[in-house]
Amino acid sequence: MPLVCVCSPKGGVGKTTVTANLAYALARSGSKVLVVDFDTQNALRLHFGIPISDNRGFAAQSGTLSDWSQFILKAGPNLFVLPCGEVTEDERLLFEDNLMNEPMFIQRGLSAVLKIPGMVVIADMPPGRNAALKAMQGVADMRIVVLLADTASLSLLPPIEQHKFMNEPLNHKMGEYYVVNQSDMRRTLSRDVTHFFEQRLQGKLLGTIHRDECVPEANASQRAIMDISPVSAAAFDIEHISKKVAVILGLSVGDGAYHHTTSIYGS
Ligand SMILES: Nc1ncnc2c1ncn2[C@@H]1O[C@H](COP(=O)(O)OP(=O)(O)OP(=O)(O)O)[C@@H](O)[C@H]1O
Ligand SMILES: [Mg+2]
Repeated sequence: MPLVCVCSPKGGVGKTTVTANLAYALARSGSKVLVVDFDTQNALRLHFGIPISDNRGFAAQSGTLSDWSQFILKAGPNLFVLPCGEVTEDERLLFEDNLMNEPMFIQRGLSAVLKIPGMVVIADMPPGRNAALKAMQGVADMRIVVLLADTASLSLLPPIEQHKFMNEPLNHKMGEYYVVNQSDMRRTLSRDVTHFFEQRLQGKLLGTIHRDECVPEANASQRAIMDISPVSAAAFDIEHISKKVAVILGLSVGDGAYHHTTSIYGS
């Protein structure tokens, strides 16, 4: 069941990359994982080999459907994707209105998948403060805030810590964690900012991901970083983060055994 929300006050920091590669890593370790795209850019699906011409998704009809699972696509062993899909401007406004004003909107749409034992749901959020993030506040069990190893992200840490970006998860289950992305140890500033984050966030920091050319390459080829470049720093970093997430979520993973689930409801 656990629902993990990947978000950030900033755009372009790697939310979608972290969502996709965390999902690949957890699925590879044997967990059943569903990624859900709440960003109408509809980019998450492109990390899973879904053709760019395939614009299906849940957002356009999310208000009239009581269950969004009919739009779930299988992306690999244990791995499922619920794309946002293409939306017109009117559909986007209605989607955001539902997110803002329908108290059980997300719980209802995901109710079937949230009931599947052991299923990990990872939600990719649009950047900044937005309707999806507000709606997710009381629903998410765990929040992962992605920041860059730069001074702009550093300046955003105090308002995040003071919960001006997002309130504490209402269900108070697993709380808020951080990932610092695009750390470059060859640059003094990036190194200093990374060290500052490490000291300040301590156990709340799931890990740091190195800036690595294999990341955009993996994105471009719609595959996992660990498949494109298994011995890269970024692949190692993702693996490390996924193991920490598995421990926090209480998942029994680590043997790399696939269950080869063909249906989202299968065991
Ligand atoms: N560790 C990394 N090293 C190198 N490039 C990276 C790394 N992480 C992400 N990128 C690149 O940064 C860009 C932005 O990543 P991504 O789309 O995941 O960010 P985002 O936070 O989801 O953006 P948006 O706010 O638009 O949703 C992509 O081109 C991605 O390939
Ligand atoms: Mg994104």
